[in-house]
Amino acid sequence: MHEKTILEMRNVRKTFGPVVALDQVDLLVKEQEIHAICGENGAGKSTLMNVLSGVYPYGSYSGEIDYDGKVRQFKNLRDSEKEGIVIIHQELALIPYLSIMENIFLGNEQVERGSINWDKTKEKAIELMDRVGLDADPEELIVNIGVGKQQLVEIAKAMAKDVRLLILDEPTAALNEDDSEHLLGLIRNLRDNNGITAIIISHKLNEIAAIADMVTVIRDGKSISKIEITETSPLDEDKLIADMVGRSLEARYPEHKRNEDGEVIFETIDWTVYHNEDTHRLVNDKVNIQVKAGEIIGIAGLMGSGRTEFAMSVFGKSYGSKIQGTLRLNGKEVNLKNVGQAIHHKLAYVSEDRKVYGLNLISTIRENTTLSNLNDLLKGFSIDREKEKAIAEKYRKELRTKSASIESKCSELSGGNQQKVVLSKWIYTNPDIMILDEPTRGIDVGAKYEIYEIIHKLADQGKAIIVISSELPELLGISDRVYTMAEGKVTANLVNDDLTQDDLMKKMTA
Ligand SMILES: Nc1ncnc2c1ncn2[C@@H]1O[C@H](COP(=O)(O)OP(=O)(O)OP(=O)(O)O)[C@@H](O)[C@H]1O
Ligand SMILES: [Mg+2]
Repeated sequence: MHEKTILEMRNVRKTFGPVVALDQVDLLVKEQEIHAICGENGAGKSTLMNVLSGVYPYGSYSGEIDYDGKVRQFKNLRDSEKEGIVIIHQELALIPYLSIMENIFLGNEQVERGSINWDKTKEKAIELMDRVGLDADPEELIVNIGVGKQQLVEIAKAMAKDVRLLILDEPTAALNEDDSEHLLGLIRNLRDNNGITAIIISHKLNEIAAIADMVTVIRDGKSISKIEITETSPLDEDKLIADMVGRSLEARYPEHKRNEDGEVIFETIDWTVYHNEDTHRLVNDKVNIQVKAGEIIGIAGLMGSGRTEFAMSVFGKSYGSKIQGTLRLNGKEVNLKNVGQAIHHKLAYVSEDRKVYGLNLISTIRENTTLSNLNDLLKGFSIDREKEKAIAEKYRKELRTKSASIESKCSELSGGNQQKVVLSKWIYTNPDIMILDEPTRGIDVGAKYEIYEIIHKLADQGKAIIVISSELPELLGISDRVYTMAEGKVTANLVNDDLTQDDLMKKMTA
């Protein structure tokens, strides 16, 4: 690592109306270092990076930015990109119906004599794809490749712009273990072999420990501490957490007593599902899962194991074709034809993709919270607005959703706080059975703990909870029992007594 400073942000302050998102933030980044920014949901991490990259132009914030030895006053993204600063946002910005190569050179086309040179575009795309380890056809459309590959397209795109400072906002949030490993390896490689400096935002502390040279902690819009990580002084995660949340966390997972004697209220018998479009491809093969009232069960499986397909096909056939098998809810066989019927039968599915299934971003917290259960708010023929407000307020407090008020638009919330609104919305429908698909993705450690407590509370009220998660420590931390899946089949049903990650991995790859 060099000792030369490449970036210094001093005393940055940024407000949105009455909301102070950043106040007195300092950030100092050395050349060729991997610098992590950590902090709770809503702490101001993304906002700080948007200030740096000119998304929020000079004049809309106060404070100073020195980059590469000069004071900078970027007016927009292009300005910062010209200097080699490239930001990859929390929500990827690729165009789904354009090819990989078109995306790589979007806004940066290989133009010769007034028109795009496609041969050159393809040739260069292949070269860049090779450098980032992306194995695909450059003419493949973005919609047809997985998120792991999409993330690599973003990096190839950054490299096409001669990036010197690469900013990654939660790059691995939606990636599986393998893709995450590959991505982190690539970032290391870019640092070591291409002299690139990286700023990475992540809620995965093990990842920070593995990759960062330095961490800056932000809390409530203020920079709190800097923690250096070296081979001889590895990251002290407890200290990092304490700095992030402002108190020490005794444990990552709250204590919970198992509920043993409920009735089975969720059961699938030989649940079999074929792919949505490719209707010959089997995605769930005779899946038998039982959950008792009061039980929290986990489903562990790698990408492609059919976990999400199972959940969605059960949830009113919102995924799949040629669905066969029996679904029993509260002891009765049901045939749910759509999501409405699923909700009516007190089944809820909280999805991993909050943008698509979970949240209406242009609506407020209040509207989103109550949307799925408006019946409960009817007073005669109209909606009881006072009650609606009270409900939204209650969940905002309980889940500690950080926002100016319940009238804040969801688009203005930080990523993790959007996820809390999705949870509120489903809890309010008062389901008997809740399937939570990656419920803590993008959520900070402190808020995760709160979400686990909520899950416990729901179980103690006699609800059946199914948690799908790629984070094995999380499954082990909260489940009473774990089903493992591989290639569409259930491979084991394990009681969570002294269960280890290894035990799960063995069955997930069986
Ligand atoms: N466009 C906006 N309008 C109003 N408030 C905003 C806007 N963008 C961000 N905020 C507020 O600024 C604060 C910081 O948000 P930011 O997105 O930077 O958080 P974050 O640290 O990236 O959180 P997360 O880990 O959840 O992504 C939050 O309180 C958020 O609600
Ligand atoms: Mg963010």
